[in-house]
Amino acid sequence: MNILFVGDIFGSAGRRIVREHIGHVREVHNVELTIVNAENAAGGFGLTPQIAEDLFDLGADVLTMGNHVWDKKELIDYISSPKPESTECRPRRVIRPANFAPGAPGYGVFEGATASGVDYAVIQLQGRVFMNPIDDPFRTADALLAGIKAKVVVVDFHAEATSEKVALGWYLDGRVTAVLGTHTHIPTADERILLNGTAFQTDVGMSGPYDSVIGVEKELVVHRFLSGMPGKFEAAKGNPKMCATLVTCDPKTGRAAAIQRIMLGE
Ligand SMILES: [Fe+2]
Ligand SMILES: [Fe+2]
Repeated sequence: MNILFVGDIFGSAGRRIVREHIGHVREVHNVELTIVNAENAAGGFGLTPQIAEDLFDLGADVLTMGNHVWDKKELIDYISSPKPESTECRPRRVIRPANFAPGAPGYGVFEGATASGVDYAVIQLQGRVFMNPIDDPFRTADALLAGIKAKVVVVDFHAEATSEKVALGWYLDGRVTAVLGTHTHIPTADERILLNGTAFQTDVGMSGPYDSVIGVEKELVVHRFLSGMPGKFEAAKGNPKMCATLVTCDPKTGRAAAIQRIMLGE
């Protein structure tokens, strides 16, 4: 069974390059489960319900978010309106980090079944190193896994520090199908199968404009570093690439057999 995970979509350039490639990648690799990180899909900041619907139309099964989840206020109602068991409802398929404060809007895990009937779960966790303080992602993972029956479990670990991401990979090795990092917007070349059968990559990388500073117009970011002054950030457009990772697993055991990095441009 093949699972496609598309890294953080950034702005209109990211949406365009994903629209161009996601269909043929899903087809060529016979993808059964498509997960897309969409936290920067709306102009670099958050996600709108309309863009979420567009990504589902392109074949996404589950959308993951991250620290930018609340940037577009209209998403709050969209993701918090469905009941937990409304798995066919698209807004229920947009998840935010599970270790946010108890009672935060929305859901941190989605459990569903593929078209061929394979049960799966997608969990999102957010790191705590160099990020806003939130609950422990390690123990949150333990608590969630205790209640998940599906063998195929994909974890999106939205975190800044490579060490925290690698550590969670080892911590969950053998207990989930894949631990894939998001948030830094820089793809890492360390994709591998860990010793007990979990596919791991520190960061899948951004699906967005690479002539930029992690998606933002490069001049604006350089100016901020030079001046130390706040300024408006705008999404860049140049050199868009779709970064994604393909994980092959045994649907009966959930163990990963292969992991492959993908980077496609114009
Ligand atoms: Fe991001
Ligand atoms: Fe992020």
